[in-house]
Amino acid sequence: MSEAATVKIPTAFFGEKVTWVHHWNEGLFSFRCSRDPTLRFVAGQFAMIGLMVDGKPLTRAYSMVSPPWDEELEFLSIKVQDGPLTSRLQHIAVGDTVLIGRKPVGTLVVENLLPGRNLWMLATGTGLAPFMSLIRDPDTYEKFDRVIVAHTVRQVRELAYRDYIAAELPAHELLGEYASEKLVYAPSVTREPFPHQGRITTRLESGATYAQTGLPPLDPALDRVMMCGSDAFNTETEAMMERLGFVEGTNHTPGTYVLEKAFVTK
Ligand code: A2P
Repeated sequence: MSEAATVKIPTAFFGEKVTWVHHWNEGLFSFRCSRDPTLRFVAGQFAMIGLMVDGKPLTRAYSMVSPPWDEELEFLSIKVQDGPLTSRLQHIAVGDTVLIGRKPVGTLVVENLLPGRNLWMLATGTGLAPFMSLIRDPDTYEKFDRVIVAHTVRQVRELAYRDYIAAELPAHELLGEYASEKLVYAPSVTREPFPHQGRITTRLESGATYAQTGLPPLDPALDRVMMCGSDAFNTETEAMMERLGFVEGTNHTPGTYVLEKAFVTK
C-alpha cells in the first residue's frame, strides 16, 4: 500500500491515514483513521470507504462507528478472503492511506424517528456499526428514556465492542452519565452456549429479550426501533415491525422505525 502516497486521490474522496487497527477475530476487525475537519456526518450515517487499487478507487459503503464529535473516524469490517475490498482492507496498517467518501448519507438517524420512550437498536453482525456511533452521541440520549442495543451474532467472539458497551461507556468521562442511566446492552448468540441464546427476532417474540432487559414489550405508540443487519434480517424484522403497527421513517417523514442494511459482505 506504499504506492498510495504517490497515487492521486479522486476528488470524491479524502485520503486519510490509518491510526489504529484492531482484529477482533479471524473474521472481524476495526480501524481508525484521520478525519478531514470539513467532513460532516450525523450519527448512524455511512460513507463510501476503500482503497486505491491499480490506480482506481475500490470502495464499499461503511457506517461510521465513531460519533460525530470524534476527531478521528472508526469503522468495523468483516474479512472475506476472496472479497474484492475486504481481502485487501484487512491488511491495512498504521500509516496507510484509506479513501473516505466526502458525502456521508443514510436513513438510520434519530431525526427520522418520532420522539418516543425507548429506542431499540436491533443489529446482527457488523450491523452494530452505526449503533456504536449513535450510542456515543449525546443527542440520542436526550430524545429517549432508554436506548437498547440488541446485538445478535453466531459466536461469542463476534460480539465486537462488548466490553466497551458494557463497561467502558458507562464509565466514560463525558457520556458515562447518559450511558449508565439509559443504555441497555442486550447481546445474544445463536451458535454457541451463552447466557442469552437465539436470534433477536425469536427472542422478541418469545419475550426473552424483555426478561433480559427488564423492559416492557415493544409498543408502536411509545417505542422506536432501528434495524441494521443482513438482507434476511432486515426483511424479517421489517415484517415484524409492520405487523406490530410500526411505520417506517424516511429522510422526509419521521416514523416509528428505520432500517438500513449492513453493507459489506465481501
Ligand atoms: P443464525 O446463527 O441462527 O443464522 P450472519 O453471520 O449469517 O449474517 O448472521 C449473524 C447473526 O444474525 C447470526 O446470529 C444469525 O443467526 C442471525 N440472523 C441471520 N438471519 C437472521 C434473520 N433473518 N433474523 C434474525 N436473525 C438472523
